[in-house]
Amino acid sequence: MSKLSHCWREFVTMGLGAGRNGQREGKLLLHARRRLSEYLDLDSRLRVLDIGCGQRCPAVSAFTAWGWDATGIDISHVGVKPGVSRYVRLARAEGWKRLARSLIRELFFDRPFRRELFRALGVKMPKQVDVRLMSATNMEFADNTFDLVYSMAVFEHIDDVPAAVRAVNRVLKPEGIGFIGLSPWPSLIGGHHPAWQNPDEYQPKDVPPWDHLRGHHFPVPFYCNKYRERDYRRVFEQYTRVLEWIDGPRVGESLVTDEILAGLPDYTADELAKWSVTAIIGKKLE
Ligand SMILES: C[S@@+](CC[C@H](N)C(=O)[O-])C[C@H]1O[C@@H](n2cnc3c(N)ncnc32)[C@H](O)[C@@H]1O
Repeated sequence: MSKLSHCWREFVTMGLGAGRNGQREGKLLLHARRRLSEYLDLDSRLRVLDIGCGQRCPAVSAFTAWGWDATGIDISHVGVKPGVSRYVRLARAEGWKRLARSLIRELFFDRPFRRELFRALGVKMPKQVDVRLMSATNMEFADNTFDLVYSMAVFEHIDDVPAAVRAVNRVLKPEGIGFIGLSPWPSLIGGHHPAWQNPDEYQPKDVPPWDHLRGHHFPVPFYCNKYRERDYRRVFEQYTRVLEWIDGPRVGESLVTDEILAGLPDYTADELAKWSVTAIIGKKLE
């Protein structure tokens, strides 16, 4: 795909659907909250970490609005407020093109995203959010710091997954809970092509489903570690106390035809149709 058409696709899916994406994110966070209420007293002032909080910082903003003491970390210069020094740091670290994309997004699309996100959550948007530049694989927090470590759609981009999982276990309090959601590589969104972001609403004609497993003719400029669910299970079970694996929705099941399966003999129909998986973990004590 040409760079221009990639930018256009990103503009359409991320930009014009911003309000809908905000609503969807709000529902996802409310679902996570319901699941977490089975493990934690959510009415107390929890110390919470959001790993890979992302450019729009949805989860760390929601956690702050819920009255928790929340910190987000990311390897990119993210933040919820406009700031010249952040823009300069972003341009220096990731280039002027990346800055231009961020500015367009912040100027035009973040407002409807946040408005719909906080409408769905039914709380006020916080004025300040604590966001720091830090990698999941090299966290500067003391041992036993957090009641909750949350992460959504990040671990598939981490190059050293065992190091990140060990770090999560280290910074969790003994009674703390980790809630780590991710999309394994074989899923329809495993290749992170923006055209396949919402296949229930729109399915592209030009980018074939599971292109990333079938020649990868339409790569995108994001690093993915290619971990399958079984790889994540092995690492999380080695370094943490896994309490639950929650299957995400099945998406694109009707596309898993005999022809697709015959072309992908290494993958099961279940792996191809499972959009995501969430590990709920406790701290493994040595
Ligand atoms: C797909 S975005 C998800 C953002 C956010 N969690 C959300 O759900 O909207 C992935 C984010 O993970 C960040 N990331 C990737 N590797 C990371 C690492 N090693 N440590 C911290 N953040 C990382 C990226 O910079 C990016 O902002």
